[in-house]
Amino acid sequence: MSTAIIYSFTSNKTAKAGQKIVDSFGESLKLDVVDADNLAEEKFLAYDQLILGVPTWFDGELPHYWDEFVPAMEEMDMKGKKVAIYGLADQVGYPENFADGVGILARLLRDRGAEIVGMTDVDNYTFESSHAIEDGQFLGLVLDQENQARLSKKRIDNWLEDLKKIFK
Ligand SMILES: Cc1cc2nc3c(=O)[nH]c(=O)nc-3n(C[C@H](O)[C@H](O)[C@H](O)COP(=O)(O)O)c2cc1C
Repeated sequence: MSTAIIYSFTSNKTAKAGQKIVDSFGESLKLDVVDADNLAEEKFLAYDQLILGVPTWFDGELPHYWDEFVPAMEEMDMKGKKVAIYGLADQVGYPENFADGVGILARLLRDRGAEIVGMTDVDNYTFESSHAIEDGQFLGLVLDQENQARLSKKRIDNWLEDLKKIFK
């Protein structure tokens, strides 16, 4: 199995969280680190297992670099691929669109056949609504560096404990 983590190298908080995820996996998983800026379709499709980093921008939207890749993803066959998504978000500044980007990417890729893994509990966040939620859980890991930076390490560690059982 081949695995990549994809995030924008210029997306500040998402890139820092991505580096922490890579460090925490350590030697336990061979992980390629791929820049989401100007992402090539062949690169994206070259992996069986993907970890995608997405901040929510523009009041509930994907950042421009993921948004530009949406038409390509809408044509992809993602069957047999496992995708875990982590999202950066701000529950105080954007309580009505909290971490929507996670839900947008998850549903899009699931519609193309991907298996979304790494759901997490919504406990200990305070917000009004989020497209990242399904069946009472987030469709990935949600980190809030603006308001809950102290909780991020534990959240990442718990998430990776789950992913280490799922990713081969
Ligand atoms: C203009 C703007 C719009 C944002 N919109 C949302 C939003 O709709 N929902 C949300 O949860 N966070 C929103 N955020 C917060 C970002 O997701 C958060 O600051 C994140 O940590 C940014 O990560 P980055 O440094 O990788 O871009 C917004 C931030 C900005 C500056």
